[in-house]
Amino acid sequence: MNNISTDIRKAKTILEQDNLVAIPTETVYGLAGNAFSETAIKKIFETKNRPLFNPLIVHIHSKELLNNIAENIPAKAYQLAEAFWPGSLTLVVKKKGNVPNLVTAGKNTVAVRVPNHPLTLSLLKLLDFPLVAPSANPFGSISPTAAEHVAQYFKDSLPLILDGGLCESGIESTIIGFEEDEPIVYRLGAIAIEAIEAVVGKVKVMNTNEAAPEAPGMLLKHYAPKTKTILVDDLDDFLNENTLPKIGSIAFYKRTANPKVMHQEILSERKDFKEAAANLYQAMHRLDKMNLNLIVAERFPDENLGKSINDRLNRATK
Ligand code: TXA
Ligand code: MG
Repeated sequence: MNNISTDIRKAKTILEQDNLVAIPTETVYGLAGNAFSETAIKKIFETKNRPLFNPLIVHIHSKELLNNIAENIPAKAYQLAEAFWPGSLTLVVKKKGNVPNLVTAGKNTVAVRVPNHPLTLSLLKLLDFPLVAPSANPFGSISPTAAEHVAQYFKDSLPLILDGGLCESGIESTIIGFEEDEPIVYRLGAIAIEAIEAVVGKVKVMNTNEAAPEAPGMLLKHYAPKTKTILVDDLDDFLNENTLPKIGSIAFYKRTANPKVMHQEILSERKDFKEAAANLYQAMHRLDKMNLNLIVAERFPDENLGKSINDRLNRATK
């Protein structure tokens, strides 16, 4: 415990000096800086090599703080915040003038969430500013779901990585914006559409950059391993028709008996979508280190978090 609070105090000092700290959240690790410091925000974009048109998410410790940075908030945004915060839901709402344009890529909206991780919530409560935090990976690569993933990417360029263990949800937050006060899903994520609809009724899904220019960061190629990756409907059919050396596979619960696969990652033996999502990036990180020629992922059922997992697998293939 002592160590943990020492680290949180260290993180506070570093952040107050406009430097960056990697923070754990329940979705993925974030690369965090003071949301009101242009110096810190610029460091985030530089460290990630992220294009400036891609806006950042502001992390706050309590839904009561939403009004400090946003205005004209739709009733359904409050309902969603009530239902899911702290948690893996990001709301895109009209920004107040105090939010730097660098955070929002010049847009008049800001993305906000209350993350659900005890270390990061304690840190946020100690600070007198919110934290902007994109996922702590170089632009386009696989998001980190463990402190050692962040270290592999940024060990030499970051003064501190707060180690909060493995991320419980394991994929990024679901992002929801509003058009005429009606919710639109900009990014499929750790909270399933079904769960969102149980709170606010039917929602529109516009999960690609083409469909939703409102969410400028939703590039088709994203979350990608360095190893060539493909997505197939049926792993065994694919293996029967192809002879390739050094294949690794990703599947929901079914193990293949085909010896062509050198290493297989089963995401949830008990067919649990949440468990599968939590394991997805860890599996991708492991496979990407094996010098394989190809990663073959088998498509998930198109329901619940299966939709979000398919979205990430699809972007990994581009
Ligand atoms: O789970 C998560 O959301 C993680 C953790 C660290 O909180 N963060 C994360 O951040 O995934 P990042 O930067 O990798 O993705 C943020 C996405 C951007 O790609 C962009 O599409 C969207 O949020 N976004 C941010 N501000 C927006 C805005 N004003 N309007 C529309 N989309 C926005
Ligand atoms: Mg990201």
